[in-house]
Amino acid sequence: MLKAIILIGGPLKGTRFRPLSLDLPKPLFPVAGFPIIQHHIEACQKVEGLKEILLIGFYQPSDAFKTFLSRAQQEFHISIRYLQEYTSLGTAGGLYHFRDVIQSGNPECFFVMNADVCSDFPLTEMVDFHRQRSHACCTMMGTEASREQALNYGCLVENTDTHEVLHYVEKPGTFVSSIINCGVYLFSPEVFKHIATVFARHQEDLPSDDSFALGSKDSIRLEQDIFPMLTGDSKLYVYKTQNFWSQIKSAGSAIYANRLYLALYHKTHPDRLAAHGEGMPSIKGDVYIHPSANVDSTAVLGPNVTVGANVTIGPGTRIRESIILDGASIQDHSCILHSIVGWNSTVGAWTRVEGTPSDPNPNIPFAKLDSGELFSEDGRLNPSITILGRNVTIPAEVIVLNSIVLPHKDLPHSYKNQIIL
Ligand SMILES: *[C@@H]1O[C@H](CO)[C@@H](O)[C@H](O)[C@H]1NC(C)=O
Ligand SMILES: *[C@@H]1O[C@H](CO)[C@@H](O)[C@H](O)[C@H]1NC(C)=O
Ligand SMILES: *[C@@H]1O[C@H](CO)[C@@H](O)[C@H](O)[C@H]1NC(C)=O
Ligand SMILES: *[C@@H]1O[C@H](CO)[C@@H](O)[C@H](O)[C@H]1NC(C)=O
Repeated sequence: MLKAIILIGGPLKGTRFRPLSLDLPKPLFPVAGFPIIQHHIEACQKVEGLKEILLIGFYQPSDAFKTFLSRAQQEFHISIRYLQEYTSLGTAGGLYHFRDVIQSGNPECFFVMNADVCSDFPLTEMVDFHRQRSHACCTMMGTEASREQALNYGCLVENTDTHEVLHYVEKPGTFVSSIINCGVYLFSPEVFKHIATVFARHQEDLPSDDSFALGSKDSIRLEQDIFPMLTGDSKLYVYKTQNFWSQIKSAGSAIYANRLYLALYHKTHPDRLAAHGEGMPSIKGDVYIHPSANVDSTAVLGPNVTVGANVTIGPGTRIRESIILDGASIQDHSCILHSIVGWNSTVGAWTRVEGTPSDPNPNIPFAKLDSGELFSEDGRLNPSITILGRNVTIPAEVIVLNSIVLPHKDLPHSYKNQIIL
């Protein structure tokens, strides 16, 4: 039997995803029409013998979460549970805290996946790879990055014959290797022995009366505390994927992940891609349109566009490389490029909403880092995609360029390179 754990983090971790994370926990933000973690769950469902999915994080279980969980249980016929940490325990600390739940039923091994990963998740391949290495405690998914980009990730050196990881450094100061950790792992239960060792050491090292460090004694990170300890001992291996991979850190990277998941639908869910047809809007490239959306037949959508539930799109509109969230209304002849239009927002007629794309692809040298930093070092707003929060109203005949608009704003005129509070 196999299990999967999705590490969803908590509200503090979603700050770079503002203003969209003000309204919805980031793991539930829809990319290519479905919540970010639904893409993980769909990949898990395809793995033979995978019986249970556990979400670990420190979000309060909101209504949105409960609705998502019960809907997903029904749709995927798999047990999905949320285990809430009392505080941020780190990527390994949360696993350790819930070790009994994870180990109940004696799983042969279990996946651990970071929620902010966008990938086609070659999980079955990882299981085969892991089983071929009887001593393996962990198989880590890795990918090749450019030399410049690698420094921003966990870097590892492998034995090219056996794929054993000989050396691991998280975000090294100088070049170590161009193979990076993708944040998707397959662990044997043996890993709990290693986490227990670190846990015991932390309990001794840190004074117990330090209220400032509340929870920090229990905080253990896979990347810093566990992986370096497993190297060079036939325990840690890397499964290298050649396929797409990126992280969804900021809202800008959601646009990028949106196009990757839409492209994946050609293989996994061709039925989700909008088709051409008589009396239908003109579709260019990959587009997802929710069945309840009302799109005028003279609109031109794509490539790489997602249209949510109950969205209205008027005649003569042009939408490219964008996500239009549920209930939004795009009025006649307006144009939306590289933008996210928030839930129930309205874009007036003949208006242009445009952003500048950011590309978090680690394979592209000097790709914009998409660190999510809003301001450059000299205090200027970094060019970004344009984001309209929930319930924003943009009037007719204006231009909103490279701007971020917080929820419930009624804009009086055009804006460029601004955060509208
Ligand atoms: C749409 O996404 C694909 C990748 O899925 C990419 O190759 C293409 O360049 C994107 N289109 C535009 C106009 O950027
Ligand atoms: C769309 O609108 C219908 C009717 O107003 C409503 O029943 C449904 O829940 C809405 N769907 C979503 C996903 O908001
Ligand atoms: C959008 O507005 C409708 C009613 O106008 C409301 O029922 C719905 O909850 C809103 N959706 C979001 C996501 O804010
Ligand atoms: C939407 O925003 C307007 C201000 O532009 C506000 O008056 C209204 O109450 C908001 N509606 C909701 C449902 O939050």
